[in-house]
Amino acid sequence: MEGLSTRIRMTINGRPQGFLLGHDLSGSETLAEVLREKLGLTGLKIACDQGACGACTVIMDGKAVLSCMTLAVEADGHDILTIEGLPDDDPVVRAFACQCEPGHGTALQCGFCTPGAVMTARAFLNENPDPTLDEVREAMAGNLCRCGCYQGIAQAVLAAAAELRRRAAAVPAAEPTEAEPSADGADGTPGHGPRGGRAEA
Ligand code: FES
Ligand code: FES
Repeated sequence: MEGLSTRIRMTINGRPQGFLLGHDLSGSETLAEVLREKLGLTGLKIACDQGACGACTVIMDGKAVLSCMTLAVEADGHDILTIEGLPDDDPVVRAFACQCEPGHGTALQCGFCTPGAVMTARAFLNENPDPTLDEVREAMAGNLCRCGCYQGIAQAVLAAAAELRRRAAAVPAAEPTEAEPSADGADGTPGHGPRGGRAEA
């Protein structure tokens, strides 16, 4: 009876993480609290703490979720991506950073809402890589920005979508040359690592 424990496992930004329920975390702790306070992933923000602002958005198994409304135990067995897990050259990150020229409608001022907005946009563009402005606005409607950067945010998401499409279009040209050497295995060409270029770290 005593000593009954449950291990909560999740992958966070590509790294396996384990927590002992009742020891490392309680059943009532939210994913937002665990990510920020136990793992120091402070990009996500806890603002309303009741599912109304989007500041705490992270991606779970490819979908945007409000981490303040998700219990840490509910993330057991799932893949979590926070803004810290995105590469510096992620098109959405870059678009938000670049969309700050006067006259173009800045996508960020104080930056408080930005990590949540970036993660919402990231998950949205995975599902809809060629959205209209109205679709972007609808997708981003749950992310409140007290600085009122809504125009700039929408433009940043559209710019990121265009860049993602450009990158996706460039990928197929490189892949056939990679398959050929390994077909006969006779030229001594070393392997190219995990398929599809998705590195496991
Ligand atoms: S802090 Fe989670 S939705 Fe506002
Ligand atoms: S940039 Fe300040 S809250 Fe959005």
